[in-house]
Amino acid sequence: MAGFDAIDVIRAKRDGHRLSDDQIRWVVAAYTQGVVPDEQMSALLMALFFRGMSADELSAWTRAMIDSGERKDLSSLGRPTADKHSTGGVGDKITLPLAPLVAACGVAVPQLSGRGLGHTGGTLDKLESIPGWRADVHEEAYLRQLRDVGAVICAAGDDLAPADKKLYALRDVTGTVESIPLIASSIMSKKIAEGADALVLDVKTGSGAFMKNTDDARTLARTMVGLGAAAGVRTVALVTAMDRPLGRSAGNAVEVAEAVEVLAGGGPADVVELTLVLAREMLAGAGRDDVDPADALRDGRAMDVWRRMIAGQGGDPDAPLPRPSETHVVTAPATGTLTRLDAFSLGVAAWRLGAGRARKEDPVSAAAGVTWTAGIGERVTAGSPLLELHTDDGGRIPRALEALEGAIGVDSADRPLPLVLERIDTV
Ligand code: URA
Repeated sequence: MAGFDAIDVIRAKRDGHRLSDDQIRWVVAAYTQGVVPDEQMSALLMALFFRGMSADELSAWTRAMIDSGERKDLSSLGRPTADKHSTGGVGDKITLPLAPLVAACGVAVPQLSGRGLGHTGGTLDKLESIPGWRADVHEEAYLRQLRDVGAVICAAGDDLAPADKKLYALRDVTGTVESIPLIASSIMSKKIAEGADALVLDVKTGSGAFMKNTDDARTLARTMVGLGAAAGVRTVALVTAMDRPLGRSAGNAVEVAEAVEVLAGGGPADVVELTLVLAREMLAGAGRDDVDPADALRDGRAMDVWRRMIAGQGGDPDAPLPRPSETHVVTAPATGTLTRLDAFSLGVAAWRLGAGRARKEDPVSAAAGVTWTAGIGERVTAGSPLLELHTDDGGRIPRALEALEGAIGVDSADRPLPLVLERIDTV
C-alpha cells in the first residue's frame, strides 16, 4: 500500500482541501491495521465532521470501509435477496415480522444486525429474549438457513467492514457520531458488504430518532441512496415518523410479543402498515412486485417462516417469554384524544428500566420495557391505565418516571408526523 503521512492527510482536510482516493484508501486501511493510531484518526474525524466530504470523497471513503473486510456473494442462493436497514427508533421491532414476511414471498433476507446503544433498542437484544435463541451464526449455517428458511437475523462477523467497527467506537468517544457523511458511510459500508441485491432504508425522523429534524433525515436518506446506487445495489429510502414510538411496546420481550401478534394477523395498525410498506419496497427492489405480502401475513406463511427462523438459531418459538418481577402503571392525565406520546422520553424510560445499555459491554434485561394501551389519535380517559413499566429492579422505576415527565399530551397542540413522510429513490 502506497504510504502517506497521516499528518498531511489531517492538515489537508483541516484546511478544507479534498482528499484523493489514494489518501482515503490508505488512511482507512492503515487505521484498520493499527498503523495510524486513534489520536490521529480522531483528529481526522473531527476535521471531516467540520469540513464534510464531497460526493467523490464519500464514495471513496465508503469503498475503503467495504474493502477493509469481505463483500459477501449471495449469488449461490439462486433467488433474489433484499435487506432493510432502519436508522433506529423507539419500539422499532419492524425487522422481526418483516424478515420472515419477505422470505415467505420468495425473496431471501440476509439481516446482519446490531445491538442497541442508548435509548434505541437493538434487534439482537430483542431476539435474545426468546429462550435458546443465538445471535452468532457461522458462515456455513448462515448460508444454509438463507437457503432453507429464506431469512436469517444474526450478528455481523468480524469480516464485515471491520474499519467501521473501529471507527464507530472512536466516533462514539470523540463527539463525531452526528455527521451525515460519517453516518451514511458507516451504515452503507456494512449493508453493501452484506451482499443483498436490493436495500430499503427506513430513515427515522423526530424526537426518538438520530435525525431529529426532517431536512437532516432527508439529506441522510439521499446520501445513502446515492452510495447504494453507486455500489450497484438497488436502494430506496423512506423517511418515517419517530416523533412517537412504533406500536404499543418498547423493550425486548415485549417487542417480540408484539411482532408475533403481527405475524398472527393482528398487532397495532402502524406496525402492520409500516411492515407492509417496507415489504412491498423490498419485494419490488428484488424484482417481485407481483407478490402481495398482505396475503402471506393473512394466511400464516410468514408465521411459518418466523418459527423456522427462530428454531434454526436454537430458539423455541413456543416458549413463554420472560416476565418482569415488577410493574408500575401510569394513568392518563386527562380525558380526550392522545396527541403526544414522546418517542425519546419513552425510549429513555425503557432504557432506564433495563431494556438498553449505556456501554456496549453492559447486559440488558429481557423483561424490561414499557407498554401502552393507546396510540396517537386515540381516546384516553383520565385515571385509566395508559403506560405499564416493566422491570426486574423496582429501584429503576423512579428514574424511568422522571424520563416520562411531559411525555404525554391529551388534546395538546402537537401535530404528529405522517407515518411515511417521503420516498426517495434517486439522488
Ligand atoms: N448507525 C451506524 O451503523 N452508524 C452510524 O454512524 C450511525 C448509526
